[in-house]
Amino acid sequence: MSQDFAIPPDVVALSDYARLAQKRLPAMVSAWLDGGAGDGVTHAANLTGWDRIRLAGGVLADMRGASTGLSLYGLALDHPVLLAPVAYHHLAHPEGEIETALGAAATGAVMTLSTLASTRIEDFGSVAQGPWWFQLYAQARREDTESLIRRAEGAGARALVLTVDAPVKLRNTEERIGFRLPDGIGAVNTIGMAPPRVTAMPGRSAAFLGLLETQPRWEDLAWIRAATRLPILLKGVTRPADAIRAIAAGIDGIIVSNHGGRALDGLPASAEILPRIAEATAGRVPLICDGGIRRGTDILKALALGAAAVMVGRPQIHALATGGASGVAHMVTILRAELEVAMALTGCNSLAAISRDVLWQD
Ligand SMILES: Cc1cc2nc3c(=O)[nH]c(=O)nc-3n(C[C@H](O)[C@H](O)[C@H](O)COP(=O)(O)O)c2cc1C
Repeated sequence: MSQDFAIPPDVVALSDYARLAQKRLPAMVSAWLDGGAGDGVTHAANLTGWDRIRLAGGVLADMRGASTGLSLYGLALDHPVLLAPVAYHHLAHPEGEIETALGAAATGAVMTLSTLASTRIEDFGSVAQGPWWFQLYAQARREDTESLIRRAEGAGARALVLTVDAPVKLRNTEERIGFRLPDGIGAVNTIGMAPPRVTAMPGRSAAFLGLLETQPRWEDLAWIRAATRLPILLKGVTRPADAIRAIAAGIDGIIVSNHGGRALDGLPASAEILPRIAEATAGRVPLICDGGIRRGTDILKALALGAAAVMVGRPQIHALATGGASGVAHMVTILRAELEVAMALTGCNSLAAISRDVLWQD
Protein backbone atom coordinates (compact mmCIF):
# COMPACT_ATOMS: atom_id res chain seq x y z
CA MET A 1 0.00 0.00 0.00
CA SER A 2 1.39 3.40 -0.95
CA GLN A 3 2.00 5.73 1.99
CA ASP A 4 1.57 8.92 -0.05
CA PHE A 5 -1.85 10.32 0.70
CA ALA A 6 -1.74 13.49 -1.40
CA ILE A 7 -4.96 13.98 -3.36
CA PRO A 8 -4.29 14.35 -7.11
CA PRO A 9 -5.88 17.51 -8.58
CA ASP A 10 -8.00 15.59 -11.06
CA VAL A 11 -10.07 14.00 -8.28
CA VAL A 12 -13.41 15.75 -8.65
CA ALA A 13 -16.01 13.02 -8.15
CA LEU A 14 -16.44 9.85 -6.08
CA SER A 15 -15.74 7.71 -9.14
CA ASP A 16 -12.24 9.22 -9.24
CA TYR A 17 -11.60 7.96 -5.72
CA ALA A 18 -12.89 4.51 -6.70
CA ARG A 19 -10.53 4.39 -9.66
CA LEU A 20 -7.48 5.54 -7.68
CA ALA A 21 -8.20 3.23 -4.75
CA GLN A 22 -8.31 0.27 -7.06
CA LYS A 23 -4.84 1.18 -8.31
CA ARG A 24 -3.41 1.66 -4.83
CA LEU A 25 -4.95 -1.12 -2.80
CA PRO A 26 -3.76 -4.73 -2.95
CA ALA A 27 -5.95 -6.85 -5.24
CA MET A 28 -7.16 -8.84 -2.26
CA VAL A 29 -8.43 -5.72 -0.47
CA SER A 30 -10.12 -4.43 -3.61
CA ALA A 31 -11.88 -7.77 -4.05
CA TRP A 32 -13.22 -7.50 -0.50
CA LEU A 33 -14.12 -3.82 -0.78
CA ASP A 34 -15.60 -3.58 -4.23
CA GLY A 35 -17.20 -7.01 -4.48
CA GLY A 36 -20.77 -7.99 -3.77
CA ALA A 37 -22.49 -11.21 -2.81
CA GLY A 38 -22.97 -13.99 -5.36
CA ASP A 39 -22.93 -12.60 -8.89
CA GLY A 40 -23.03 -8.99 -7.72
CA VAL A 41 -26.49 -8.44 -9.19
CA THR A 42 -27.78 -6.39 -6.27
CA HIS A 43 -24.55 -4.42 -5.97
CA ALA A 44 -24.76 -3.44 -9.66
CA ALA A 45 -28.47 -2.65 -9.30
CA ASN A 46 -27.72 -0.29 -6.41
CA LEU A 47 -25.60 1.85 -8.71
CA THR A 48 -27.94 1.82 -11.73
CA GLY A 49 -31.03 2.11 -9.53
CA TRP A 50 -30.38 5.78 -8.77
CA ASP A 51 -29.40 6.50 -12.40
CA ARG A 52 -32.74 5.21 -13.64
CA ILE A 53 -34.69 7.80 -11.69
CA ARG A 54 -34.93 11.03 -13.67
CA LEU A 55 -35.27 14.48 -12.20
CA ALA A 56 -37.59 17.37 -12.90
CA GLY A 57 -35.88 20.76 -12.78
CA GLY A 58 -37.40 23.63 -10.87
CA VAL A 59 -36.73 27.20 -11.91
CA LEU A 60 -37.04 30.69 -10.41
CA ALA A 61 -37.21 29.46 -6.83
CA ASP A 62 -36.09 31.77 -4.03
CA MET A 63 -32.85 30.14 -2.92
CA ARG A 64 -31.77 32.87 -0.51
CA GLY A 65 -30.78 31.35 2.82
CA ALA A 66 -30.78 27.84 1.34
CA SER A 67 -29.43 25.12 3.61
CA THR A 68 -28.66 21.40 3.64
CA GLY A 69 -28.97 21.29 7.43
CA LEU A 70 -31.10 18.86 9.40
CA SER A 71 -31.72 17.61 12.90
CA LEU A 72 -31.32 13.88 13.53
CA TYR A 73 -31.60 12.22 16.94
CA GLY A 74 -30.84 15.48 18.68
CA LEU A 75 -27.83 16.24 16.48
CA ALA A 76 -27.80 19.44 14.43
CA LEU A 77 -26.11 18.35 11.22
CA ASP A 78 -24.90 20.54 8.36
CA HIS A 79 -25.79 17.99 5.71
CA PRO A 80 -27.38 14.53 5.33
CA VAL A 81 -24.24 12.55 4.39
CA LEU A 82 -23.32 9.91 6.98
CA LEU A 83 -20.56 7.30 6.92
CA ALA A 84 -21.88 3.74 6.90
CA PRO A 85 -20.24 1.12 9.12
CA VAL A 86 -17.41 -0.59 7.28
CA ALA A 87 -15.11 -3.18 8.85
CA TYR A 88 -11.30 -3.01 9.10
CA HIS A 89 -10.31 0.49 7.98
CA HIS A 90 -6.68 -0.47 8.60
CA LEU A 91 -6.84 -2.38 5.33
CA ALA A 92 -6.95 1.01 3.60
CA HIS A 93 -4.86 3.23 5.88
CA PRO A 94 -2.27 2.67 8.63
CA GLU A 95 -4.30 4.78 11.10
CA GLY A 96 -7.54 2.99 10.25
CA GLU A 97 -10.82 4.25 11.69
CA ILE A 98 -9.12 7.08 13.57
CA GLU A 99 -8.00 8.61 10.27
CA THR A 100 -11.51 8.30 8.85
CA ALA A 101 -12.90 9.97 11.97
CA LEU A 102 -10.67 13.00 11.43
CA GLY A 103 -12.06 13.45 7.94
CA ALA A 104 -15.62 12.90 9.12
CA ALA A 105 -15.30 15.45 11.93
CA ALA A 106 -13.76 18.04 9.60
CA THR A 107 -16.90 17.95 7.48
CA GLY A 108 -19.53 17.31 10.15
CA ALA A 109 -20.35 13.83 8.88
CA VAL A 110 -21.59 11.37 11.50
CA MET A 111 -19.39 8.28 11.33
CA THR A 112 -20.54 4.79 12.30
CA LEU A 113 -17.92 2.57 13.94
CA SER A 114 -18.35 -1.10 13.01
CA THR A 115 -18.36 -3.94 15.52
CA LEU A 116 -15.72 -5.32 13.14
CA ALA A 117 -13.58 -2.18 13.36
CA SER A 118 -9.84 -2.66 13.47
CA THR A 119 -9.62 0.04 16.18
CA ARG A 120 -10.65 -0.41 19.81
CA ILE A 121 -13.91 1.33 20.69
CA GLU A 122 -12.23 3.15 23.59
CA ASP A 123 -9.33 4.39 21.47
CA PHE A 124 -11.77 5.60 18.82
CA GLY A 125 -14.01 7.36 21.33
CA SER A 126 -11.10 9.14 22.98
CA VAL A 127 -10.06 10.86 19.75
CA ALA A 128 -13.33 11.21 17.82
CA GLN A 129 -14.04 14.93 17.51
CA GLY A 130 -17.51 14.72 16.07
CA PRO A 131 -20.62 12.74 16.95
CA TRP A 132 -20.43 9.04 16.04
CA TRP A 133 -22.63 5.99 16.15
CA PHE A 134 -21.76 2.40 16.97
CA GLN A 135 -22.82 -0.44 14.68
CA LEU A 136 -23.69 -3.51 16.69
CA TYR A 137 -23.54 -7.10 15.55
CA ALA A 138 -25.34 -9.11 18.24
CA GLN A 139 -23.00 -11.75 19.59
CA ALA A 140 -23.71 -15.40 20.33
CA ARG A 141 -23.83 -14.69 24.07
CA ARG A 142 -25.96 -11.84 25.39
CA GLU A 143 -23.29 -10.84 27.91
CA ASP A 144 -20.92 -10.18 25.01
CA THR A 145 -23.53 -8.09 23.20
CA GLU A 146 -24.18 -6.17 26.40
CA SER A 147 -20.47 -5.57 26.86
CA LEU A 148 -20.24 -4.04 23.36
CA ILE A 149 -23.23 -1.80 24.11
CA ARG A 150 -21.73 -0.61 27.42
CA ARG A 151 -18.34 0.02 25.83
CA ALA A 152 -19.91 2.03 23.01
CA GLU A 153 -21.99 4.04 25.49
CA GLY A 154 -18.94 4.63 27.67
CA ALA A 155 -16.84 5.76 24.71
CA GLY A 156 -19.45 8.31 23.65
CA ALA A 157 -21.50 6.73 20.87
CA ARG A 158 -24.69 8.72 20.24
CA ALA A 159 -26.75 5.91 18.71
CA LEU A 160 -26.65 2.18 18.05
CA VAL A 161 -26.98 0.82 14.53
CA LEU A 162 -28.09 -2.79 14.87
CA THR A 163 -27.24 -4.65 11.66
CA VAL A 164 -29.39 -7.70 11.09
CA ASP A 165 -29.12 -8.55 7.41
CA ALA A 166 -25.84 -10.41 7.18
CA PRO A 167 -25.64 -13.33 9.61
CA VAL A 168 -24.07 -15.39 6.82
CA LYS A 169 -22.42 -14.43 3.58
CA LEU A 170 -21.58 -15.82 0.17
CA ARG A 171 -18.78 -13.79 -1.39
CA ASN A 172 -17.38 -15.49 -4.46
CA THR A 173 -15.03 -12.60 -5.33
CA GLU A 174 -13.35 -13.01 -1.95
CA GLU A 175 -13.26 -16.79 -2.27
CA ARG A 176 -11.69 -16.71 -5.72
CA ILE A 177 -8.82 -14.53 -4.60
CA GLY A 178 -8.49 -16.27 -1.24
CA PHE A 179 -9.19 -13.17 0.84
CA ARG A 180 -7.73 -13.25 4.31
CA LEU A 181 -6.92 -10.54 6.81
CA PRO A 182 -3.24 -9.70 7.03
CA ASP A 183 -1.47 -10.29 10.34
CA GLY A 184 -2.13 -7.49 12.80
CA ILE A 185 -5.48 -6.38 11.36
CA GLY A 186 -8.66 -7.83 12.75
CA ALA A 187 -11.85 -7.32 14.73
CA VAL A 188 -10.15 -6.13 17.91
CA ASN A 189 -13.40 -5.45 19.77
CA THR A 190 -14.72 -8.99 19.71
CA ILE A 191 -11.55 -10.79 20.74
CA GLY A 192 -12.43 -13.49 23.25
CA MET A 193 -16.15 -13.36 22.55
CA ALA A 194 -17.62 -16.80 22.29
CA PRO A 195 -18.01 -18.18 18.78
CA PRO A 196 -21.47 -19.44 17.85
CA ARG A 197 -22.43 -22.81 19.26
CA VAL A 198 -22.50 -25.35 16.48
CA THR A 199 -24.99 -28.13 16.92
CA ALA A 200 -24.26 -30.90 14.46
CA MET A 201 -27.43 -32.25 12.88
CA PRO A 202 -27.46 -34.62 9.95
CA GLY A 203 -28.64 -33.07 6.69
CA ARG A 204 -28.03 -29.45 7.69
CA SER A 205 -25.69 -27.35 5.58
CA ALA A 206 -22.70 -25.41 6.80
CA ALA A 207 -24.58 -22.09 6.88
CA PHE A 208 -27.39 -23.50 8.97
CA LEU A 209 -24.94 -25.06 11.37
CA GLY A 210 -22.93 -21.93 11.98
CA LEU A 211 -24.10 -18.41 12.74
CA LEU A 212 -27.74 -19.12 12.06
CA GLU A 213 -27.89 -21.10 15.28
CA THR A 214 -27.26 -17.94 17.21
CA GLN A 215 -28.27 -15.09 14.91
CA PRO A 216 -30.41 -12.47 16.62
CA ARG A 217 -34.17 -12.95 16.62
CA TRP A 218 -37.06 -10.60 17.26
CA GLU A 219 -36.91 -11.37 21.01
CA ASP A 220 -33.29 -10.23 21.01
CA LEU A 221 -34.36 -6.93 19.49
CA ALA A 222 -36.70 -6.41 22.44
CA TRP A 223 -33.86 -7.29 24.81
CA ILE A 224 -31.43 -4.85 23.13
CA ARG A 225 -34.14 -2.16 23.21
CA ALA A 226 -34.40 -2.64 26.95
CA ALA A 227 -30.62 -2.74 27.39
CA THR A 228 -29.86 0.83 26.27
CA ARG A 229 -31.27 4.32 26.26
CA LEU A 230 -29.42 5.21 23.08
CA PRO A 231 -31.49 5.56 19.93
CA ILE A 232 -31.46 2.27 18.01
CA LEU A 233 -31.50 2.16 14.22
CA LEU A 234 -32.17 -1.18 12.59
CA LYS A 235 -29.92 -1.65 9.56
CA GLY A 236 -30.64 -3.97 6.69
CA VAL A 237 -34.42 -3.79 6.50
CA THR A 238 -35.84 -4.44 3.04
CA ARG A 239 -39.30 -5.86 3.74
CA PRO A 240 -42.04 -3.38 4.68
CA ALA A 241 -43.57 -5.80 7.22
CA ASP A 242 -40.22 -6.06 9.02
CA ALA A 243 -40.03 -2.28 9.22
CA ILE A 244 -43.48 -2.07 10.78
CA ARG A 245 -42.67 -4.80 13.29
CA ALA A 246 -39.39 -3.11 14.22
CA ILE A 247 -41.15 0.18 14.92
CA ALA A 248 -43.64 -1.65 17.09
CA ALA A 249 -40.67 -3.11 18.97
CA GLY A 250 -39.51 0.40 19.82
CA ILE A 251 -36.68 1.05 17.43
CA ASP A 252 -36.01 4.68 16.59
CA GLY A 253 -35.01 4.51 12.95
CA ILE A 254 -34.55 2.26 9.98
CA ILE A 255 -31.57 2.04 7.69
CA VAL A 256 -32.98 0.90 4.38
CA SER A 257 -30.08 -1.14 3.09
CA ASN A 258 -29.19 -4.30 1.26
CA HIS A 259 -25.71 -4.17 2.80
CA GLY A 260 -24.28 -2.68 -0.38
CA GLY A 261 -25.29 -5.84 -2.25
CA ARG A 262 -23.04 -7.91 0.02
CA ALA A 263 -25.65 -10.04 1.79
CA LEU A 264 -28.61 -11.47 -0.20
CA ASP A 265 -27.88 -11.24 -3.92
CA GLY A 266 -31.18 -10.77 -5.70
CA LEU A 267 -32.56 -8.04 -3.48
CA PRO A 268 -33.74 -5.00 -5.45
CA ALA A 269 -31.73 -1.80 -5.61
CA SER A 270 -32.00 0.42 -2.54
CA ALA A 271 -33.72 2.98 -4.78
CA GLU A 272 -36.52 0.46 -5.34
CA ILE A 273 -36.79 -0.67 -1.72
CA LEU A 274 -36.85 2.79 -0.16
CA PRO A 275 -40.24 3.99 -1.46
CA ARG A 276 -41.90 0.75 -0.27
CA ILE A 277 -40.51 1.15 3.23
CA ALA A 278 -41.40 4.84 3.23
CA GLU A 279 -44.98 4.07 2.27
CA ALA A 280 -45.33 1.40 4.96
CA THR A 281 -43.77 3.42 7.77
CA ALA A 282 -45.45 6.73 6.87
CA GLY A 283 -42.93 8.97 8.61
CA ARG A 284 -43.17 7.31 12.02
CA VAL A 285 -39.37 7.09 12.35
CA PRO A 286 -36.55 8.57 10.27
CA LEU A 287 -35.36 6.45 7.36
CA ILE A 288 -31.73 6.44 6.31
CA CYS A 289 -30.83 4.87 2.99
CA ASP A 290 -27.56 3.42 1.72
CA GLY A 291 -26.34 1.47 -1.29
CA GLY A 292 -24.86 3.01 -4.43
CA ILE A 293 -25.00 6.65 -3.31
CA ARG A 294 -22.26 8.25 -5.40
CA ARG A 295 -23.64 11.66 -6.43
CA GLY A 296 -25.48 14.60 -4.93
CA THR A 297 -28.34 13.83 -7.30
CA ASP A 298 -28.53 10.32 -5.74
CA ILE A 299 -28.96 11.98 -2.34
CA LEU A 300 -31.67 14.28 -3.71
CA LYS A 301 -33.51 11.27 -5.14
CA ALA A 302 -33.25 9.33 -1.87
CA LEU A 303 -34.62 12.29 0.09
CA ALA A 304 -37.43 12.70 -2.45
CA LEU A 305 -38.33 9.03 -1.90
CA GLY A 306 -38.57 9.41 1.86
CA ALA A 307 -35.07 9.23 3.34
CA ALA A 308 -34.02 11.75 5.99
CA ALA A 309 -30.34 11.13 5.29
CA VAL A 310 -28.04 8.77 3.40
CA MET A 311 -24.97 6.72 4.20
CA VAL A 312 -21.98 5.96 2.01
CA GLY A 313 -19.97 2.76 2.42
CA ARG A 314 -17.31 1.96 -0.17
CA PRO A 315 -16.60 5.61 -1.16
CA GLN A 316 -15.29 6.44 2.32
CA ILE A 317 -12.72 3.63 2.02
CA HIS A 318 -11.78 4.62 -1.54
CA ALA A 319 -11.18 8.17 -0.27
CA LEU A 320 -9.37 6.96 2.87
CA ALA A 321 -7.02 4.78 0.82
CA THR A 322 -6.28 7.63 -1.59
CA GLY A 323 -6.14 10.72 0.57
CA GLY A 324 -6.39 9.67 4.23
CA ALA A 325 -8.45 12.04 6.42
CA SER A 326 -8.25 14.76 3.77
CA GLY A 327 -9.60 12.32 1.22
CA VAL A 328 -12.55 11.42 3.43
CA ALA A 329 -13.26 15.10 4.09
CA HIS A 330 -12.97 15.90 0.38
CA MET A 331 -15.30 13.03 -0.54
CA VAL A 332 -17.98 14.32 1.85
CA THR A 333 -17.46 17.88 0.62
CA ILE A 334 -17.93 16.76 -2.98
CA LEU A 335 -21.22 15.05 -2.13
CA ARG A 336 -22.47 18.04 -0.18
CA ALA A 337 -21.54 20.46 -2.97
CA GLU A 338 -23.22 18.22 -5.53
CA LEU A 339 -26.35 18.06 -3.37
CA GLU A 340 -26.41 21.86 -3.21
CA VAL A 341 -26.22 22.07 -7.01
CA ALA A 342 -29.00 19.50 -7.33
CA MET A 343 -31.18 21.41 -4.85
CA ALA A 344 -30.55 24.70 -6.65
CA LEU A 345 -31.47 23.23 -10.02
CA THR A 346 -34.65 21.65 -8.68
CA GLY A 347 -35.64 24.74 -6.71
CA CYS A 348 -35.35 23.26 -3.20
CA ASN A 349 -33.99 25.63 -0.58
CA SER A 350 -34.08 23.11 2.30
CA LEU A 351 -34.10 19.35 2.73
CA ALA A 352 -37.72 19.61 3.85
CA ALA A 353 -38.57 21.17 0.48
CA ILE A 354 -37.36 18.07 -1.38
CA SER A 355 -40.47 16.15 -2.40
CA ARG A 356 -41.55 13.85 -5.18
CA ASP A 357 -42.03 16.99 -7.26
CA VAL A 358 -38.30 16.83 -8.07
CA LEU A 359 -38.79 13.40 -9.69
CA TRP A 360 -39.80 13.14 -13.33
CA GLN A 361 -43.19 11.46 -13.64
CA ASP A 362 -43.90 9.51 -16.82
C1 LIG B 1 -15.99 -3.59 2.68
C2 LIG B 1 -17.30 -3.42 3.39
C3 LIG B 1 -17.42 -3.74 4.73
C4 LIG B 1 -18.63 -3.55 5.39
N1 LIG B 1 -18.71 -3.82 6.74
C5 LIG B 1 -19.88 -3.61 7.38
C6 LIG B 1 -19.98 -3.83 8.78
O1 LIG B 1 -19.00 -4.17 9.44
N2 LIG B 1 -21.19 -3.63 9.37
C7 LIG B 1 -22.30 -3.21 8.65
O2 LIG B 1 -23.36 -3.04 9.23
N3 LIG B 1 -22.23 -2.99 7.32
C8 LIG B 1 -21.05 -3.18 6.67
N4 LIG B 1 -20.98 -2.91 5.34
C9 LIG B 1 -22.16 -2.38 4.62
C10 LIG B 1 -22.16 -0.85 4.66
O3 LIG B 1 -22.46 -0.38 5.95
C11 LIG B 1 -23.23 -0.25 3.71
O4 LIG B 1 -24.48 -0.83 3.97
C12 LIG B 1 -22.91 -0.40 2.22
O5 LIG B 1 -21.52 -0.38 1.98
C13 LIG B 1 -23.59 0.71 1.44
O6 LIG B 1 -23.38 0.56 0.07
P1 LIG B 1 -22.25 1.37 -0.75
O7 LIG B 1 -20.95 0.71 -0.42
O8 LIG B 1 -22.68 1.15 -2.16
O9 LIG B 1 -22.29 2.81 -0.32
C14 LIG B 1 -19.76 -3.07 4.68
C15 LIG B 1 -19.62 -2.73 3.34
C16 LIG B 1 -18.41 -2.87 2.69
C17 LIG B 1 -18.30 -2.46 1.25
